[in-house]
Amino acid sequence: MADELTRREFIETTALTSTFALLPMPAWALQGGHYALTINGERHELSLDPRVTLLDLLRERMQLMGTKKGCDHGQCGACTVIVNGRRELSCLSLAIAHDGDKITTIEGLAQGEDLHPMQAAFLEKDGFQCGYCTPGQICSAVAMLEEARNGVPSAVTKRRAAGAIPLSDDEIRERMSGNICRCGAYPNIVAAVRSVAAAQ
Ligand code: FES
Ligand code: FES
Repeated sequence: MADELTRREFIETTALTSTFALLPMPAWALQGGHYALTINGERHELSLDPRVTLLDLLRERMQLMGTKKGCDHGQCGACTVIVNGRRELSCLSLAIAHDGDKITTIEGLAQGEDLHPMQAAFLEKDGFQCGYCTPGQICSAVAMLEEARNGVPSAVTKRRAAGAIPLSDDEIRERMSGNICRCGAYPNIVAAVRSVAAAQ
């Protein structure tokens, strides 16, 4: 009897939640708004649809095609950008959540003609093959070294003293594990990151 009741309650609850799922979105949730984002050092005042992801804003509207769309589901790391100094998957993040944020993409790392040291290291160590994952790898690596420098722990090093680099290859691999390379350029990616970490 108790089981039947539980089953009936379950069905009623399911029917209720299904009904809500069919209701139209409230108007306030679909209204766009005006937001200010600083992208690669340049402030942009933008009118944004609340459904647009940061990745689509960067690629489709800002024409910053360096940031890549791989899985679009937060699983490959190709879309990694740096938000206020921290790496973030732009495919999982709504653009409107970044009002006032400072966003750096691969296009914003170089200083004029001078490559960022991580970009130079990827070139020097052949840290890529097709290059599709590379912008995400580089953005991730740049922010990752900052994390390590600030003492953010990883799964390998449970605790890390602030400023204690260079990193072991295991730690680099673990900290970069969210960035998938289908070409398997991992040994050279690790070598590139290691060389930058050692030089800091
Ligand atoms: Fe964002 Fe794959 S495209 S994680
Ligand atoms: Fe091709 Fe990484 S270099 S996916």
